[in-house]
Amino acid sequence: MDNSEDSFIVRGGKPLKGQIQLSGAKNVALKVLIAALLFDSPITFKNIPRIRDINELLHLINKLGAQADFTDSNTVVVDSHGLSSDTIDLLHAAKIRASFMFFAPLLYRFGKAFIPNPGGCRLGARPIDRHISMLQAFGVKVTYNSETGFYESQLNGNSIRGTTFTFDKPTHTGTELAIMLASRADGESVIKNAAQEPEIDDLINLLNQAGAHIKRENGSVLIKGTPILHYKNDSFTIMVDRNEAPTFASFGITTRGDIMIYGIKESDIEYFATEIKNIGAGVEVLPEGIRFYYKGELKSSSITTGPHPGFMTDWQGPWAVMMTQAHGVSTIHETIFEDRFGYVSELQKLGADIEFYQPELDNPRKIYQFNIENDDNLKSLQQAIRIKGPTQLHNGVMDVKDLRAGATILIAACSAEGESVINGASIIDRGYEDIERKLQSLGAAIKRV
Ligand code: EPU
Repeated sequence: MDNSEDSFIVRGGKPLKGQIQLSGAKNVALKVLIAALLFDSPITFKNIPRIRDINELLHLINKLGAQADFTDSNTVVVDSHGLSSDTIDLLHAAKIRASFMFFAPLLYRFGKAFIPNPGGCRLGARPIDRHISMLQAFGVKVTYNSETGFYESQLNGNSIRGTTFTFDKPTHTGTELAIMLASRADGESVIKNAAQEPEIDDLINLLNQAGAHIKRENGSVLIKGTPILHYKNDSFTIMVDRNEAPTFASFGITTRGDIMIYGIKESDIEYFATEIKNIGAGVEVLPEGIRFYYKGELKSSSITTGPHPGFMTDWQGPWAVMMTQAHGVSTIHETIFEDRFGYVSELQKLGADIEFYQPELDNPRKIYQFNIENDDNLKSLQQAIRIKGPTQLHNGVMDVKDLRAGATILIAACSAEGESVINGASIIDRGYEDIERKLQSLGAAIKRV
């Protein structure tokens, strides 16, 4: 990828056909590379995707004095020796959401940590209040310095203190941060109302294989702190990116093509697999992966996103493009993030018939996973869309607002007649490895300019 070229030109209208091997999961790679700084010995990771978020993270780790580098195409070695700074670089931290996960290794090593307000996709307010309350339960004093934009944190005692903490609402990265802290805390910890995403289990597996004692039980995570974290096997291979599978499934079905996706298990994307069968798309589950193909008229659907094992928020954009090709009226109700419809205005430019509507809800504060400050805040929400199909999309010039919105408009451009321009390719590069090579291998006419 060349940073000076930040657009894609796509000539659409051709069915995409072929095979895809999924890359490693971004949302695992980011966490395990940071968790490696809690370890007493170097560790080798396999299947780390070469994406911009990982490049930024490796830079942050090296800036702290530790070492983390690619040693071949998808292998990264992290050595925590040399870690010498308790402060995260402002410029690079602002570029990735996971930068606040550094609280765990820095508090463990230095008893204090200075971390800028996190970056990443904007998707609404995205506060870290739940993380901060959890840190406080582990015996950490945290203040936010609005002049510098840094969170300033310090342990109250000499070590991280094991604790019992209940998240008001589950949080994926909050649960992971709690697990990292607890694995190096004194005593036992119980994290209640923990998030259930499988990416978290990959982190748990890594820590357990290095000597930690972590298990899930009835919606909680139980962790015994360990004095030593030492990974004895040759390397740890992270799981595949579950979010890439629905994206490529949508590329296949929306363009009336046929794509075999290697590396995905039906159980990883169960909700998606069920819904896609319901709309009449072709799905063939094989031991080595899943084939998604167009087999005739698609039916409309009604989707509500939810925490795992629900329909993931990351999948709703690719689903929305597919629904522009379905017969009838489809709806999508987003309950995880406040602002995850950054693709709607862009799809409208291609002629998609999409409008926002207000769903009737008995208890929005329970259904929505983001914080709702007051009733005015509730009234201004735009959490649901209605899509009428089928529509033959035409070409256009589109802007990428966030990572998943970027993948969504790429799918639309591949399905639309004519040549489209997509500005903001680097946002897609944050989370999708080699996207244009993969699409070219499926027959897409895409180039970076
Ligand atoms: N929230 C708060 N306060 C907090 C924590 C979360 O209000 O302290 C809100 C969030 O703003 C959101 C909701 O709670 O509205 C749920 O957020 P959660 O913390 O679960 O999400 P996250 O940890 O920020 C991770 C992934 C997302 C993925 C979600 C859901 C990473 C780096 N990010 O976000 O991935 O969509 O979990 O599984 O792991 C992506 O890859 O594009 C992406 C956004």
